[in-house]
Amino acid sequence: MRSVIDILDLSVEEIDELIATACDMIANPKKYSELCRGKKIATLFFEPSTRTRLSFESAMYELGGNVIGFSDAKNTSISKGETVADTARMISCYADIIAMRHPLEGAPLVASLNASIPVINAGDGGHAHPTQTLADLLTIYREKGRFNNLTVGFCGDLKYGRPVHSLIHALSRYMGIKIVLIAPDELVLPDYIKKEVIEKHGIPYVETDCLEDVLPELDILYMTRVQGERFDDQAEYERLKDCYVLNAEKLKMAKSDMSILHPLPRVDEINVDVDDDPRACYFKQAANGKQMRKALILKLLAEAENNKKEMREAFVPMEECCCNNMRCITKTERGLKPAAVQTENGLRCAYCESELK
Ligand code: CP
Repeated sequence: MRSVIDILDLSVEEIDELIATACDMIANPKKYSELCRGKKIATLFFEPSTRTRLSFESAMYELGGNVIGFSDAKNTSISKGETVADTARMISCYADIIAMRHPLEGAPLVASLNASIPVINAGDGGHAHPTQTLADLLTIYREKGRFNNLTVGFCGDLKYGRPVHSLIHALSRYMGIKIVLIAPDELVLPDYIKKEVIEKHGIPYVETDCLEDVLPELDILYMTRVQGERFDDQAEYERLKDCYVLNAEKLKMAKSDMSILHPLPRVDEINVDVDDDPRACYFKQAANGKQMRKALILKLLAEAENNKKEMREAFVPMEECCCNNMRCITKTERGLKPAAVQTENGLRCAYCESELK
């Protein structure tokens, strides 16, 4: 069963198709208003969300379908110890497609391996957020009209910011991309993304901790929130949370047509005095997310009807789990078979992509 766990589960051509569908939906919403009649999406949110959950639900209603699910796992049998795998099997009896957010990295992948309906990763820990990337790509397309030849700055929490990880994967497939990584030492991009995505694709990149130094050269500035919920040490979060604040004064240094993106929610990293600047795209970006989620739901349900199957990257089975990432689903899921994926830099956990030592 075809699921979308990682943005690379979709080819560049499929992303182009989703963008074309989303643009047509914006122009002709009525044409799509009955296409999911009789279908149900289950939104399984084990972590807080405003945009992702409500846009999935709104998307399904606008397609004529229905919604079941939960926004707080406390009221589900997960609280009695049910595994992610069993939950996914059960929900397959009640719905046609699942959107799952989970704090543990790899949990939506485990769900997809056990469900008999498509599973969409709606964000897993600090790992990946592919439908946020679809929202980002539609926004870039509508603002810039292209994905090639762009200098893109990522600013803030590049360590735990899952939208950053997924968007870098997506951009690595286009030509003429230059990446600027702006973060304090404590929040730099994970090494595996630098080595296996940016460097592997020969993408020119620079790293800096100073936003002002690089602001004038950017076509896109992707601001991010420092993810307090992923820190073990709250004092460290307090020290880092305001490391970058974009305001109207600083924006004077930027190109007149630079686009400012942010997956939201924002805290203080974009001052409200930026909101009325024509370069601020973050609220449009959230609206674009609903259109891309509509297009994705339609695509996956159509493929499920046609019983189209896709193979995932081959897993290397392991005798015992040696993933050291405490936020990985392997730390809690009973009965989960340990597995790795082979990369040119060694083995990585099949579920959360951490390097296995
Ligand atoms: N961008 C995003 O994922 O927002 P929510 O956490 O509100 O879903």
